Amino acid sequence: MTDSPTIAQKAPFPVEVTEGKTYFWCACGQSKRQPYCDGSHKDTGFEPIKYTADSSKKVFFCGCKHSSKKPLCDGSHSKL
Ligand code: FES
Ligand code: FES
Repeated sequence: MTDSPTIAQKAPFPVEVTEGKTYFWCACGQSKRQPYCDGSHKDTGFEPIKYTADSSKKVFFCGCKHSSKKPLCDGSHSKL
């Protein structure tokens, strides 16, 4: 069983992603480089989630880490 992730912020991070580029979203909430993984998940039981952009566009990466559509925000932050 994994503990709950740390809430980095109760709002998404809007990011202009680039087609074909890969991003590693922080799932544990401990990274200092939100919304991306910086290696701080060591010992937390969490691993980053890989996201590859299928087109260049603006996406909203989940900041609360409780989305059911990780790594993207699904509105769950409003219920925390
Ligand atoms: Fe959070 Fe890597 S620092 S998943
Ligand atoms: Fe996590 Fe919106 S920021 S669901």
